[in-house]
Amino acid sequence: MCGIVGAVAQRDVSQILLEGLSRLEYRGYDSAGIAVIDNGKLRRIRTVGKVRELASEVNKTVLPGGTGIAHTRWATHGVPSVANAHPHVSGDIAVVHNGIIENYAEIKDKLVGEGFSFESDTDTEVLVKLVDYYLRTEKDLLSAVKTAVRELKGAYGAAFINTKEPGHLVLIRSGSPVVIGVGLGENFVASDPLALMPVTHRFIYLEEGDIADISRFDISIWDSQGNKTERTTINSDYVSVGDASKGKYHHFMEKEIYEQSVVIPDTLEGRVNNGCFLPDSFGARATELFKKTEHVKIVACGTSFHAGMIAKSWIEEYVGITADVEIASEYRYRKTVVQPDTLFITISQSGETADTLAALRLSKNQGYLGSLAICNVPESSIVRESEMVFLTRAGREIGVASTKAFTTQLVALLLFTGSIGKVKNRIDSETERVMVSSVERIPEYINEVLKQDNGIVKISLDFVNKRNALFLGRGVMCPVAMEGALKLKEISYIHAESYAAGELKHGPLALIDSEMPVIVIAPRNDLLEKLRSNIQEVRARGGVLYVFASDNCGFQDAGNMKIISLPTVPDVISPIIYTVPLQLLAYHVAIIKGTDVDQPRNLAKSVTVE
Ligand code: F6R
Repeated sequence: MCGIVGAVAQRDVSQILLEGLSRLEYRGYDSAGIAVIDNGKLRRIRTVGKVRELASEVNKTVLPGGTGIAHTRWATHGVPSVANAHPHVSGDIAVVHNGIIENYAEIKDKLVGEGFSFESDTDTEVLVKLVDYYLRTEKDLLSAVKTAVRELKGAYGAAFINTKEPGHLVLIRSGSPVVIGVGLGENFVASDPLALMPVTHRFIYLEEGDIADISRFDISIWDSQGNKTERTTINSDYVSVGDASKGKYHHFMEKEIYEQSVVIPDTLEGRVNNGCFLPDSFGARATELFKKTEHVKIVACGTSFHAGMIAKSWIEEYVGITADVEIASEYRYRKTVVQPDTLFITISQSGETADTLAALRLSKNQGYLGSLAICNVPESSIVRESEMVFLTRAGREIGVASTKAFTTQLVALLLFTGSIGKVKNRIDSETERVMVSSVERIPEYINEVLKQDNGIVKISLDFVNKRNALFLGRGVMCPVAMEGALKLKEISYIHAESYAAGELKHGPLALIDSEMPVIVIAPRNDLLEKLRSNIQEVRARGGVLYVFASDNCGFQDAGNMKIISLPTVPDVISPIIYTVPLQLLAYHVAIIKGTDVDQPRNLAKSVTVE
């Protein structure tokens, strides 16, 4: 989703801004732009497409100036076009903005009445014109911004510059994260610290409603009440953890699939010991809260929602308490009934997903026992606003399609299941020992699965000209099928559906023909015989099957049925292991189709608008 970078320095900042934008490319965008103050004049360049196209335009000229802002835009209001790309300008002011100004139409009407005209279809242009309007009466950019934000409804992170005040940058946050990068005699801003890694590792995160005035030697911050405030400066290790290079891999997604056998042990480190779960790894209050917990409500989006669906099966099976899972964008807008003694859990790779964050905020007044975040980004909003936190240690995930974040979330949720089960005396020590040793063997099994890569490449060729695909699973493998379908659709653009295999005869069987590949996830478990019958239902109707099966299930290649043989693994970890070949399938189909694997069209890595 949109990315912001800004700088105030003595040196020229355009190359720093471009480098920052290229580090934010993974978030997904469709156009980019930059503006710097060059000798009291605003110089702006905007392009549609990749940051390299913007860089090539910038490099055709000289763009000197120590104060500047830059942006990658992911279209919300108005198509991707140069006119809609940021920075937007009004008079002497320029702005870059992430988020959505919900009452932009109302403000626009007012400004048109005041004689302003508009060049773009964006909500952002309203923001810069509103500040320009108040600058007629206010003494400086900061005061004009402070007055303007009182009128805004919606979510925003935005950075402003004014040609009349070079060496100053005003930053605001409400609903969209922004961070200040603290340098030596120079300071920076961004929507994600990753953008600023080459220039600093010291960061100040703005809180909701904060406004900051940033110059080379000073950073002043006001809170939502207008009081001058201090925010902590932190040295972030996290930004250096995620190696932002592909190494020997062709794509970040490929690297991240292969990294799973490394980041899972990282996620386990210090969280299990001697065959035991360690409930305290969920926080100091975990034992007390877990004891009281009689229900669990899990809220998340996309892939993280699928992780929640798998956790539901685990929690109900091993702990014997109810677990509900909901899509955050639904949860936040419906009336919910909260059972007494319910723990609220959010799952999010980025920790900034707007709907999940809004659901978390909503939950605070709904009578939950407390909130637990399963998250991958330590300094994210969801982490900062949750009572208990369990960090997955997947490292920076760059590929838009989530892979290692998903499997580490599952590891976290399995540890949660074991820990709450232990605290509530629902899991005996032998079950605990078996669960822990199974979890510890995940990397070994993943490495075995990765050896099937060549076989998966071969079947991927069959998918290239297909327009649809159907993924089937039963029980805890239903959400695995959902995740497999999501991976395929988002990076290969093949329409993919998932179904509980038992539902086939209630409708989807009508779709089966030789043009509809059917992918079945078939580990050896109690439901295998039922699944065999579902496979026969497909075969009897001329369907083409790809069965990802345990090597001891007795499946064999036959006619229109291909078997991808996978290790037989303990039931409890099978959703984690059987996800990996589906990630590889999606990856290889996308490669053969030649899509933009790491930045699939229309998608963004961190969905900071609702
Ligand atoms: C799919 C994918 C998305 C995210 C979703 C939630 O591969 O990555 O569906 O899972 O946008 O994002 P987080 O986990 O950051 O809250």
